[in-house]
Amino acid sequence: MNDSVEIPFARPDIGDAEVEAVVRVLKSGWLTTGSEATSFEQEFRAYTGARHAVAVSSATAGLHLCLEAMGVQAGDYVALSPYTFASSAEVIRYLGAHPLFVDIEADGYNICPDALDRALDVACTDGRTVRVIMPVHMAGKACSMARIRDTAARYGVQVLEDAAHALPASDDTGARIGSRGTAVFSFYANKPVTSAEGGMIATDDEDLAKRVRCMRLHGIDRTVWDRYRVPGAGWAYDVVEAGYKYNLPDVLASLGRVQLNRADETHARRHALAERYAHALDKEPGIELLTGSGQTPEDSRAHAWHLFMICVDPAHRDDIIAYLAEAGIACSVHYRPLHMMSYYRTQYGTRAEDCPRARDRFLGAISLPLFPGLTEDEQDRVIATLKEAVSRSRGSAGARS
Ligand SMILES: Cc1ncc(COP(=O)(O)O)c(C=O)c1O
Repeated sequence: MNDSVEIPFARPDIGDAEVEAVVRVLKSGWLTTGSEATSFEQEFRAYTGARHAVAVSSATAGLHLCLEAMGVQAGDYVALSPYTFASSAEVIRYLGAHPLFVDIEADGYNICPDALDRALDVACTDGRTVRVIMPVHMAGKACSMARIRDTAARYGVQVLEDAAHALPASDDTGARIGSRGTAVFSFYANKPVTSAEGGMIATDDEDLAKRVRCMRLHGIDRTVWDRYRVPGAGWAYDVVEAGYKYNLPDVLASLGRVQLNRADETHARRHALAERYAHALDKEPGIELLTGSGQTPEDSRAHAWHLFMICVDPAHRDDIIAYLAEAGIACSVHYRPLHMMSYYRTQYGTRAEDCPRARDRFLGAISLPLFPGLTEDEQDRVIATLKEAVSRSRGSAGARS
């Protein structure tokens, strides 16, 4: 086994500007949430068109705060696809509510609007309260938001977008993700815009913005920055709720600001690499690019291209990944669906066949290296090695049959 990775799966794109920004804050005498976080929020609003932006310590924290602000209570349900990261559903459990897992589309990785309608119908008939629908914009491809908003309005359910992968992306109405409704973004280290760790809540709901702003820092009625800016008033604050410690420090916000400033440049690079992958792998025997995954030229620009995912024969998926690893190329798999994870199986008795599309998609999924610093030569090597691996696996399948 070759354990030296020559082409990583992801690599943050950190230049001198990022380093200088962080050093400037480190030397400034103010490390925690202050003017950098405030500027980051303002710049995020300008970039996405959001009415309000609230910086938080992670997208997980942001999702938790939003569900709390939306009034999710113990015993409620939140509808989401299981084809997502642990965070999306664990925050539902923080509040004692339950995930209502809905299968994904036939030709993509996002929640299926028809299955969502059916699930809400059944839940209504059973007398269960579905408080929120949480569309997850998988890989950076927006969910069918027009249909989902329509369903939400019909059933009187709120919508919270898990936009961890979706900066910058637009939905099927042409709206920039974050400019409408409530969406939570992640700045985790491998995300298209990173602050090492961090997140942003974007919302057009003023009351929700006020609530999450207060709850992100202990339920205190004033920010720490306000308290220290007003001479002599550092002690003068009230605790109006039992809040959380979910603020984004300035050291991290300064990194996020530079990254956000470069978001169009890094997105253009990700988009160009995704198009090269799509061009090279489309119609390749043994590899499927799903039509609903945003890989058509019209959809491609609206996609954030956090991940580039392909489907292969599940019988050979792990061998193909191992072959690439042997050649020094790291891949990943997104995701083993949550309804197949031990916690949800034990807690709710979920079975893989409850969401068969999510199960099948996972079994054949591979995410290929995609990051702005990936050179075309490196990408060509990934493509050639992948084709080799797939054709070998098909050959060995033929020999066996
Ligand atoms: C779909 C999805 N939602 C939420 C999160 C949580 O993001 P964070 O690490 O910023 O909490 C992630 C992280 O990878 C994610 O992939």
